[in-house]
Amino acid sequence: MYAEVRLDDADASGFRLHPALLDAAMHAGLIGAGERDDLAVELPFTWNGVALHGGGARAARVHLRRRTPASFAATLTDLDGRPLGSVESLVLRPLGHRQLLAGGSQTGRLYRIEPVPVEAGPEPSWAALDGWDLAALRAAGDPPDFVVLPAAGTVAAGARGRIHGAVGLIQQWLADGAFDRSRLVFAVDANDVDDAGLRGLVRSAQTENPDRLVLVDTDGTEDSRRALPRALASGEPQLVLRGGEILAPRLAAVPPRDGEEAEAVPFDPDGTVLITGGTGTLGRILARHLVERYGARQLLLLSRTGADTADTRALAEELAGRGAAVATATCDVADREALAAVLARVPAERPLTAVFHAAGTVDDAPVTSLTAEQVDTVLRSKVDGTRNLHELTSGLAAFVLFSGLAGVLGTAGQGNYAAASTFLDAFAAYRRAQGLPAISLDWGLWAQTSGLTARLSEGDLNRLARIGVLPLPSGEALSLLDDALARPDAALVPVRLDTATPRAAADIPAVLRGLVRATAPAAQSAPAPGTGRDCWTWSAPRSPRCSGTPATGGWRRGRRSRSWASTRSPVSSSATG
Ligand SMILES: NC(=O)c1ccc[n+]([C@@H]2O[C@H](COP(=O)([O-])OP(=O)(O)OC[C@H]3O[C@@H](n4cnc5c(N)ncnc54)[C@H](OP(=O)(O)O)[C@@H]3O)[C@@H](O)[C@H]2O)c1
Repeated sequence: MYAEVRLDDADASGFRLHPALLDAAMHAGLIGAGERDDLAVELPFTWNGVALHGGGARAARVHLRRRTPASFAATLTDLDGRPLGSVESLVLRPLGHRQLLAGGSQTGRLYRIEPVPVEAGPEPSWAALDGWDLAALRAAGDPPDFVVLPAAGTVAAGARGRIHGAVGLIQQWLADGAFDRSRLVFAVDANDVDDAGLRGLVRSAQTENPDRLVLVDTDGTEDSRRALPRALASGEPQLVLRGGEILAPRLAAVPPRDGEEAEAVPFDPDGTVLITGGTGTLGRILARHLVERYGARQLLLLSRTGADTADTRALAEELAGRGAAVATATCDVADREALAAVLARVPAERPLTAVFHAAGTVDDAPVTSLTAEQVDTVLRSKVDGTRNLHELTSGLAAFVLFSGLAGVLGTAGQGNYAAASTFLDAFAAYRRAQGLPAISLDWGLWAQTSGLTARLSEGDLNRLARIGVLPLPSGEALSLLDDALARPDAALVPVRLDTATPRAAADIPAVLRGLVRATAPAAQSAPAPGTGRDCWTWSAPRSPRCSGTPATGGWRRGRRSRSWASTRSPVSSSATG
């Protein structure tokens, strides 16, 4: 692309290169942007290898050359051909059409959970359970402030079993009026991938039932065990204990990377790329992108029902025109044998090189009425499917799991889906720990309506908007995907979040407290000194899990150092999405 740009009446004498001249030069890169499907324009994001040679120029000839689909190089000369400056690589980021229309300043970004230290409180009354016996707890009298249950104590068998078990326990806990003023604490083992689903489940249950549950993610060290009671008194609904340090999970923006890194191709485009859920809305957008952006030449799109539809055939035809062969497979990714048969048909000359696991489904209900079937419906594709893909593939360069923001926020009505999402995050970390590629992407809402999101009501969208979650245009989402694929993180959260607008404290989920300002300082209602009251502390009949708990069962009288009835967390995690 060649262009000639000039300043009208600005004085350029004090500048090596007048900013308006440079800006005008870069506008040449916008030509043709409106023809793209996603109606996104690309704006300069990262500059590399910038050199300035001249000074005071009032006009310039510009030569822009595409280096990759997401970057170009630029050379500027004066009208006599003398060099003014050059840019080795300018990386672009798409700005969505909706965003332009809205005039908003927020774009999609990558975030991740970064635990921050929180202030501990004086030890409250608490009890650790080794087994689940609400009747015994009830019979023992006035319950303690906190009842701690290790996730492994829910039920024994695997990720699925623990989620099912925890759903049942939460339902019993919430239904039993005897524990109205206690909080059930789920202590999940940070090193046990089977515990991970409980994070999302408990977060959703918290959103639906503020102040009734606490989630503690612990490394299981003795120091962390000792820190637990003081951590509980912090008032945080979710805690992370590492080597005795008391932390709370907070979402934080991931700093931009060096633009050059973004250009690495994350898998061999000559191999086969499997997209589960590849005939769904995001699957199709992704398929197109992998061909356009990375030159993927062989795609395998898998779903239970959508393999032989008009949409899929049209997509295959379109991508064939761009040099990519598209194969489809009708298969439930949770069916191990069927999946193995599909994978066995991948041609040896084009071995599987990348898996994008975008299969997913929802079956919403509040945790109090979630049925075992609803839990299984949602866990099938994400929990069973992920395990199958992990076990049946090898030699991959990319293993990308499509997860949801619901697990991070604890979306109301989506306890099962949130559980599946946090399982995926942990599973990606589990693979990484084995030296295998993996990333889990906790997508916020995409703007493009999909099979999954079609049933969202205006109320649902408004609830999301109330906490600042805005729809992510496809172009923006794909550029976040590109960015994420080049990063070492096991889990990232690509979402378009309005962090500029202050929000009612009650609308801000705890995990967003580091990003979103409250409209007014949250009212603190710490008890006046000396208002603690006597209480009874239940201890488990078997050996205690945490220090400070007596080894024999029964209630023990203690001093309640803080009354939770009057010091409920001032910022409840009541956001939904
Ligand atoms: N859209 C969003 O805003 C959003 C946000 C966060 C995360 N996500 C994630 O993105 C992925 C794609 O979702 P989408 O919005 O594009 O929804 P979608 O249009 O409903 O696509 C989901 C796809 O998964 C397939 N699928 C479901 N269960 C399967 C199974 N057991 N085995 C094989 N295929 C299965 C579905 O096809 P069949 O029913 O024919 O099997 C469908 O093709 C999902 O994993 C979702 O969790 C989406």
